[in-house]
Amino acid sequence: MTQFDQLTTKRSGDVITSLLSDKDLIVASNRQPYAHTYEQTDGQRQIVVEEPAGGLTAGLDPVVQQTDGTWIAWGDGDADAAVTDEAGRVRVPPSDPGYTLQRLWLSDDEVDNYYYGYSNQVLWPLCHGFLANLRLIDQFWEQYCHVNTTFADAVADQAADDSLIWFQDYHLALAPRRVRSQVSENQFLMQFWHIPWPTWDTFRVCPHYDTLLNGLLANDLLGFHTERDCAQFLSCAAAGLDDATVDWPRSRIHYDGQWAVVRAFPMGVDASQITRLSGSPDARTFWQRFTNDHGIASDTAIVLGVDRLDYTKGIIKRLDALEYFWETHPEWREQMTYIQKASESRSKIPAYQAVQEEVTTAIERINRRFGTADWQPIIYTDDMLSRAAMAGLYHQSDVALVSSLRDGMNLVAKEYVAAQGDHPGVLMLSEFTGAHDQLGTHAVTINPYDTEGVVEMISTALTMPAAERRTRMRQLREHVESADLYAWMNTIFQTAQTLQDTEPTSLPDGTERLLSH
Ligand code: F6P
Repeated sequence: MTQFDQLTTKRSGDVITSLLSDKDLIVASNRQPYAHTYEQTDGQRQIVVEEPAGGLTAGLDPVVQQTDGTWIAWGDGDADAAVTDEAGRVRVPPSDPGYTLQRLWLSDDEVDNYYYGYSNQVLWPLCHGFLANLRLIDQFWEQYCHVNTTFADAVADQAADDSLIWFQDYHLALAPRRVRSQVSENQFLMQFWHIPWPTWDTFRVCPHYDTLLNGLLANDLLGFHTERDCAQFLSCAAAGLDDATVDWPRSRIHYDGQWAVVRAFPMGVDASQITRLSGSPDARTFWQRFTNDHGIASDTAIVLGVDRLDYTKGIIKRLDALEYFWETHPEWREQMTYIQKASESRSKIPAYQAVQEEVTTAIERINRRFGTADWQPIIYTDDMLSRAAMAGLYHQSDVALVSSLRDGMNLVAKEYVAAQGDHPGVLMLSEFTGAHDQLGTHAVTINPYDTEGVVEMISTALTMPAAERRTRMRQLREHVESADLYAWMNTIFQTAQTLQDTEPTSLPDGTERLLSH
């Protein structure tokens, strides 16, 4: 049975199939689902394919295959151009082609200003509320507009009358408006915003707020992770656009002749795959090798952190709390090891370089301060791990420590839950993650800014009776399994279908007056 068969029969029923069977799905995202790169093997230069790593790309891949659709993304692999046709197209997956990946070529200047610039030094800090990291530079904005146009034109070129167009994330806020101007008015456009949406007081700091809202409101359906994000988006539209009419009860906005419906779709993970991998021989082999390599004794309690090296993840605050924990709880020295699995991210940006340096410095300091001949308090790895190895790491950890200062969702929390088995661990979860809205009741809630509070909770987690751990984890698993990645996609496609069937596209006479009172 293929992954898609499982998805359609077990997970999504007939919904995705029936919606998409007569449709052409076009996905547009900054990141591509497959990258071709050069690799040097035995003195020979070969092209290798990097498989989809993130949950979204891996999850969407079989759906796009089913529709034989098109995925439009930035071709950032160094061998990408060598395998595409003149139009930048390549059939993927390479092993069994099922759809077209349309790669867009971005110049260094475009990447610097659109990706490293506006996307990640304006929108990212703005939406996460890190205004001190905001860098408003004209060139960032110019190239963001330009690259959004490039994406939009590629989408419009590809679109047929029955296409369902799905934009992903904050890199492409302006593209929907341009696509809207080039396709028929019946075309259904939707977008999922994977990061938080800020309050109006924060959003208004951005001088381009109205253009961003104008771009996003060309979508028929706009998805966020949480109800809070939706409410904040509606407030921003109400305050930021004179011509927008917000229908609060139905969570939709009328603007420029159409409705944009705003809905929360909390994203999930491929729970069944993670659960299966967590018990696989590869997961066990990884853990044996890892504990051998790092001299971790079998009776040591393991606390785990898994993060991109991003200032929003609260890694430094977490390390501060761990340092204070070992200082105030000497009985846990040599008894508990913290593993930090990190991945380098957006390293051209000074704020990210600073995180990398601060994390390294803090870990060295803590290891020097508490380490003994037989025990290293913190083990740091930035190795690329296979999915099975990651599942093994989650499975073996007694506690997962998710301390984001702000996070749209945080899928690490859900992956950890999915990888638990017979001896479940404890999920410590920041109340400032989207995931906390769903998992907060059965996780151990932390406020990452409150160091002493986190220390107390680490102690609570490490000493929690097995029965309580099992009860909490059973509830967490029930949620993570039922609200998985496929349920997320299913709900989005189902909502799109319902809206296409029922939602009026224009504001009935007189409604505007009623709604604004
Ligand atoms: O959280 C938003 C997001 O775009 C994720 O979808 C993705 O995993 C992460 O940020 C990584 O970002 P980048 O594409 O910049 O490496």
